[in-house]
Amino acid sequence: MKQKNKIYEVKNFSLENEQLLQYETLFHNANGYLGVRSNFEEGYPDSYQTVRGEYINGFYNFSRMNQAEKLCGLTEEKQVMPNLVDTQGIQLTVCGEPFSMFRGKILDSARILDMEKGVTIRRVIWRSPGQRELEIEITRMTSFKMLPLFTIEYRVRALNFSGSIEFFSTHIGDVRNSFSSKDPRVADGAARHLRPEAAVFTPEGFSTITSHTTTSRLTAVSMVCNRLSYPAAESREARGPAAVQEFRLNLDQGHSVTLTKYTVLCDSVHYQNCEDLAADLMKQAVSVPLSDWYHAQERYLKQFWETGNIQLEGDDALQNAITYNLYQLIQSVGKDPHSNIAAKGLSGEGYEGHYFWDTEMYIEPYFLLTRPSLAKNLIAFRYTTLDAARRNARILGHRKGALYPWRTIMGRECSGYFPSGSAQYHINGDIAYSVVNYYLTTKDFDFMVHCGAEILFETARLWMDVGNYYKGKFRINCVTGPDEYTCLVNNNYYTNVIARYNLKWAARFYRMMTEENKISPLAERLCLTREEILSFQQAADDMYLPYNQELDINPQDDSFLSKEKWDFSQTPPDSFPLLMHVHPLSLYRRQVCKQADTILAHFILEDEQPLSTMRHSYDYYEKITTHDSSLSSCIFCIMAARFGMTEKAYSYFGKSAQTDLMNTHGNTKDGLHIANMGGVYMSIVYGFGGLRIKEDGLHLAPVLPQKWGGYSFKLYFENSLLAISVKHPVCEITLLSGTEKTLFFYGKAHQLKDRLNIPLEPWGEKI
Ligand code: BGC
Repeated sequence: MKQKNKIYEVKNFSLENEQLLQYETLFHNANGYLGVRSNFEEGYPDSYQTVRGEYINGFYNFSRMNQAEKLCGLTEEKQVMPNLVDTQGIQLTVCGEPFSMFRGKILDSARILDMEKGVTIRRVIWRSPGQRELEIEITRMTSFKMLPLFTIEYRVRALNFSGSIEFFSTHIGDVRNSFSSKDPRVADGAARHLRPEAAVFTPEGFSTITSHTTTSRLTAVSMVCNRLSYPAAESREARGPAAVQEFRLNLDQGHSVTLTKYTVLCDSVHYQNCEDLAADLMKQAVSVPLSDWYHAQERYLKQFWETGNIQLEGDDALQNAITYNLYQLIQSVGKDPHSNIAAKGLSGEGYEGHYFWDTEMYIEPYFLLTRPSLAKNLIAFRYTTLDAARRNARILGHRKGALYPWRTIMGRECSGYFPSGSAQYHINGDIAYSVVNYYLTTKDFDFMVHCGAEILFETARLWMDVGNYYKGKFRINCVTGPDEYTCLVNNNYYTNVIARYNLKWAARFYRMMTEENKISPLAERLCLTREEILSFQQAADDMYLPYNQELDINPQDDSFLSKEKWDFSQTPPDSFPLLMHVHPLSLYRRQVCKQADTILAHFILEDEQPLSTMRHSYDYYEKITTHDSSLSSCIFCIMAARFGMTEKAYSYFGKSAQTDLMNTHGNTKDGLHIANMGGVYMSIVYGFGGLRIKEDGLHLAPVLPQKWGGYSFKLYFENSLLAISVKHPVCEITLLSGTEKTLFFYGKAHQLKDRLNIPLEPWGEKI
């Protein structure tokens, strides 16, 4: 299939405040380390709201968490991803007239995200109130090659005049985070998280601001260098925690001038001695033409798209949406084990830069199949925060094991409201599941011996402490499952089934490592005995999984079916998301779901239940699920495809793919919905492609929605790279590299040597 142009462009874009806030997110630049919102260099009118921010993934400050009642063990301090600095500012003045899109006349404008080049562009043809016409093109990049580097290339062309031009480039250390007192998904207090030192200029002329977090004792250094393509009078000044550099020149009609502004931002979480490093990196950055950095960016992305893209035939709008979503994943994911991937990536301040289970259950699968080394980093991050998870378990009263925090940056819990926060113990199972998934996909036993197994043992231990036997069954009481509209329940099906998987695999790895003579050092260090392992296995075998025979469904938990159903006929459309309009208790005592819960369990562990139970459950939960969480539609898409309801799956997929581009959840301004973006990938590969990775190998069961001519993608499995193309009437699999394999299609084994052509089957319709 032909590669489509990877451009997302909005022509003659709106200058309405709400829309600009969304664009700040949609056109942000990020590389997994550094993120910059897409603010206008020159700013907006004073009456406008903006979230003007530059962030580093994994960098944090501590902030007080005010609990209304000081109950034992509640979180009293959280981490926040601080807004670090403002290096976006460039004021342009033409013959004394300051450029602003809100004055004079816009003759033409466009905002562009070029996903092959890895840059964003704002293009404007502007007529000033004094009738001077200018063409302005601003290209921005956060470099994948040098992660701390952010560049702005600001080109101005005089169209109908000759005259004076002035650039005023600012570097401001005194910045704050934004907040909302109305939305629990955003921070609730405007905060200044950094104490900037006074700005200084290095001998090379780079302005430098060193800032210290107010409470977490971390340092961030920003360095700025401005270069002009044209001879100009230049002046510079440092004023407290700010630096300005000014350029004055005369430009002839038809000519253009370019200001290139380099920012290097380094932090003490990722780097030692970041002040020296910033200076070294800046020297390196300016020692070659900017075009070299652009080429490196394009090379990086060429490689990324090589295996990372999905091609769709016959639906350009959806193709563009898919490409956009996948691009945001590579922009957001941490590139080292010191950082992870925040719920909003680096695109905004929603959820305060926290990492959730979103990583393991929604995002990691993409990297695991297309760039396994990045998935490995994400697990390594959980390994490096395992000690913090052990401490967290003690805070919650557990005698052994580790409990990962529901939301975090550096490993400590940040949940303010424990019923839908810390009580989501399934995070432990999610992380364990992802570790096993990593192993089954890569067979990287070494990694398991060094990191993975310890995570499995410590999370398994926690289940033994949180659960208990009653009437011969192992039960897990008082936890919250993925559905945040049902809290603090006994035996949440999702939690129990994933805990069982966790326990089972901990026992299995113990056996595998024993056979390979690799268990002793770890077992000794953890004081892990054979008896304890046997207890894991026993609890897994005895795990209680709620089942209702009459309905042939898995109830979400012990009390779920006894509750009254939510009355949707009395719920006006503007009452969604319900969490913004209804007291939590009203939700908790009704059958109403924010998101996929049991359905997600059926997707990830489909062999635990007969198909009929999964199908009946789907019909049951679909009627009471609001999809108020963006993590929901993609799972309903995947399972609709599993049951042969391809057109229903297609409809869920459309919703999921357009979530941010169409702002369907109304809060894209606070940042992208990154888990959903991973869900878009999963919808195609696991949903329509029917991919499952199981102990016996890789399974596929492709189906094709009527509107599509076909779709194709590549993936790594074990040591091989496979290309999969689904086009009526066959699915073609090509072994691009690696060794021959047995693959399963619609449950039947086939041997892949070079290429296989499997006729498409009406999968799932057999139910
Ligand atoms: C969802 C959670 C999710 C969080 C961050 C919430 O709305 O209910 O499942 O982890 O958002 O994306």
